[in-house]
Amino acid sequence: MDLSPIPDPTFAELIALRPHLSLDALAGLMLDDVPLAAIADALGTPVWVYAAGAMRARYRALAGALKNLARVHYAVKANDHLAVLALFAAEGAGADVVSLGELRRARRAGIDARDVVFSGVGKTPDELRAALAEGVGQINVESAEELEMIAALARAMGKRAPIALRVNPDIDAGTHPKITTGRRENKFGIPAAAIPALYAHASQLAGIATLGLAVHIGSQITSAQPFRAAFAEIAALVGALRGAGQVVRRIDCGGGLGISYRHETALSPEAFAGALRASLGGLDLELIVEPGRWLVGPAGVLLASVVLVKHAAPYPFVVLDAAMNDLLRPALYDAWHGIVPLAAADAARGSAPHAIVGPVCESSDAFATARALPPLAPGARVAILDVGAYGAVMSSTYNARPLAAEVMVADGGFTVIRPRQEIADLWRGETVPEFIANRPACGRAMT
Ligand code: LLP
Repeated sequence: MDLSPIPDPTFAELIALRPHLSLDALAGLMLDDVPLAAIADALGTPVWVYAAGAMRARYRALAGALKNLARVHYAVKANDHLAVLALFAAEGAGADVVSLGELRRARRAGIDARDVVFSGVGKTPDELRAALAEGVGQINVESAEELEMIAALARAMGKRAPIALRVNPDIDAGTHPKITTGRRENKFGIPAAAIPALYAHASQLAGIATLGLAVHIGSQITSAQPFRAAFAEIAALVGALRGAGQVVRRIDCGGGLGISYRHETALSPEAFAGALRASLGGLDLELIVEPGRWLVGPAGVLLASVVLVKHAAPYPFVVLDAAMNDLLRPALYDAWHGIVPLAAADAARGSAPHAIVGPVCESSDAFATARALPPLAPGARVAILDVGAYGAVMSSTYNARPLAAEVMVADGGFTVIRPRQEIADLWRGETVPEFIANRPACGRAMT
C-alpha cells in the first residue's frame, strides 16, 4: 500500500541500487547491457526478461558467503523455468521442491535427485512414491500423520525414506501475514515441544532414516533477528535430541531472505551467514538453505506498454497491457514494485502521481495507486522491477489472457526461453460434451 510517509525512490535511485540495470541516453533502460526496448520491439509486451548474469552473480555471492557452512538448495517455486534451474544446476545448486511437477522440473534441468529436498504440508501418496522411487535426498515431514504415511509407503517399497522433521518454532518473521509460515497458527511444521518424542519414534520406524530437522519461518525477511531466534531454537533442539541419544546430522535452515523492493534494507549474505553460524556453526552439522526470492527476484523485469491514459480524479489511470494475471503480487499482497519508463526521455521528464492498472475486470488489478510517472502516451513502455521471483510462476490466464513470453539476456544478447502463449492454446484440452454440442438450440432465433 502507498501509505509510507517516506517518498518513493526515484527512477535514478531504483536504477542505481540495481547493478544489472542502467539507463542509456539513447537506448533507454538496459538489463545487463541489453536495451529492453529492443526486446519489447521484437516480441511485443507483456514480456518477462531475466538477467542470467544477475542470477549467477547472486548465487555466487550467497554460496560464497556460505562456503564451508551451508549448501544452497534453490527454492524452485520462486521461478521454475528450466533455464533458471539449469543455470543454478550448473553452479552446483541443489533444489527445494514442493510438488511432483517441481521435482520433475528439477530433474529435467539436471539436478541430481540426491540434491533434492521435498517440502510441503500435503505431499500426496503418489508424489511421495515418485520421490522415493527417484531417490530424493531428503523429505521434510510436516506432521506426525505424514510421518506415518511416509513410513508405510517406504516400507511397502522396501526403502527407507530419508527425512527431516520440520519444526514450527512459533516465531514471527515480521513479514506479510500471507507469507509468514513459522507461527503456531500457520499450517506448517511440528511444534518444537512435540519434536523430541516424534524424533525418537521416527528413528524406530522401519521405512524411515532420520537425518535431522528443518525450519522455514517465512519469506521476504529483512531482519536477522527472526532468523537468529529460529536457529537458536533449532540449536537447542539439536542439543536436546543428542542428549537423548539421537543422531542429528543435518539441518535444513529454510529460505526467506528478503530483497529491497522499495525502502527495505535487505540482509547481506554475510549477515545471513553470521546468523546461521552464531547458533548452528560448530555443531558438526551438515547445513542446507533454501532461498528462492533472493537469488532471482532482482534479476527479472516485466515489460508492459501503455494502452491508454484515462483521465480521472484524484489521479489519471495509466492502463497497461500487463495485468494481475501476469504479476499477481500487488493484488495479492499489496506488494510495491518499482515501475520505470523504458525511454530515457520519459524517465527524465517531470513526474506526477498516477494510478497504474491492468485491463483485467477486477479493481484489485492495480500495480500502484499513486505512483509518480511522467506523462506517458499510448504505446510508451515501462519496466516493472524485481519480478524474477514469484512473477511468471504465479501467472494465470484469467480473462483468457495468454501467458506472456519469457526472455533471458546474457552476453549482450537475448534468447526467447518461452514464446508468448497462442490464443488457441488457451482451450487446448477442453472438450464440449455431446449433450451440449448436439442439443438443438432452444433460444429465440437471432434475426
Ligand atoms: N522453503 C520453503 C519451505 C518455502 O515455503 C519457501 C517459500 C522457500 C523455501 C523460499 O522462500 P524465499 O527464499 O523465496 O523467501 N508468493 C510469495 C512468496 C511465497 C513463499 C512461499 N514459500 C510472494 O510473492 O511474496
